[in-house]
Amino acid sequence: ARGLRIQASAHYVPNRVVKNAELTQLMDTSDEWIQTRTGIRQRHVVIDENTSDLALHVATDLLGQSGLSAHRLDFIIVATMSPDYQTPSVAAQVQGELGATNAFAFDINAACSGFEYALKIANDLINSGSQRGIVIGAEVLSKLVDWHDRTTAVLFGDGAGGVLVEGVESNSRVLATDLATFGASGQKLTAGKMANGNAFGANQQAQPFFQMDGRAIYSFAVRQVPASIELTVAKANLMLADIDKFVLHQANGRIIERVAKGMDIAAIKFPTNVANYGNTSAASVPILFDELVKTGQITRGDTIALAGFGGGLTVGTIIIKY
Ligand code: ACO
Repeated sequence: ARGLRIQASAHYVPNRVVKNAELTQLMDTSDEWIQTRTGIRQRHVVIDENTSDLALHVATDLLGQSGLSAHRLDFIIVATMSPDYQTPSVAAQVQGELGATNAFAFDINAACSGFEYALKIANDLINSGSQRGIVIGAEVLSKLVDWHDRTTAVLFGDGAGGVLVEGVESNSRVLATDLATFGASGQKLTAGKMANGNAFGANQQAQPFFQMDGRAIYSFAVRQVPASIELTVAKANLMLADIDKFVLHQANGRIIERVAKGMDIAAIKFPTNVANYGNTSAASVPILFDELVKTGQITRGDTIALAGFGGGLTVGTIIIKY
């Protein structure tokens, strides 16, 4: 049967590092509070780059590793909640810069589950005949953060990660997927509300910055992420013990620990890098995935669960045989 294979992975983060101590100059917080509540020690933020620049670095690296020229790509999908523009999409910008003239390109927005939603779409495209494409999660969340609001500013960072995927005729490498949306709870986490005005009287204010019910998001994550993982494992006719690594969205170290404990799985199977990057939304899973591949902690043949959760509210799990 035809299926999606991850051919290469890459990630890129901007150079500027902001350590917790630096945030104490902007708001009433402490390194100790941030580390104990979230596990975050630092985050990377852009200075003169935007989301499309981060995504382009990843795309260029993927092509370089694969030795492929850009015209061999059939599609480019970017998952983002922080694009440069409403239009053109980040994916179209990347397509133009790469000169990937045979690729159609579009963004999807499922917030922190964006990479899982995008990979599911890529799998469906490949199963219906596309041969090769790039899937990237890219975010500049620092533009959606009020850098004087300690309840959100300490959590987020900028970055991008992605994979080059291709169709193979052997066994499918995507073993099962689950995507779920809880739109009735969407107001628990908002960012980037645009002003809604026109010449006829509509006059709603913009609210660019993150507004979040942190407790509600925490409870949502520790309930819905295990449910989605367990459902997907069952769909794949596997047991939880068959999963070699759980690559979870890196929102908060405590959420990841709770999920592991709740499913009675050793924490070592839940690698984390949130300490170095903070929450990079759709970029967090592909950044971590690439780091694990590059350090030999994920190797060919491993069974990996990728799981995201966040704004929407959304959840998504993809189980792959790498
Ligand atoms: N530094 C110091 N004190 C702080 C800070 C800060 N940065 N932020 C809040 N506090 C204070 C609060 O004011 C509060 O003080 P009070 O008790 O005097 O009122 C106290 O610390 C505790 O605040 P809580 O909000 O109750 O802290 P909690 O333990 O719930 O932790 C946190 C907050 C870390 C945000 C947690 O709720 C969480 O991780 N939630 C999940 C959030 C998340 O992951 N969101 C992203 C989803 S992904 C996406 O799609 C973008």
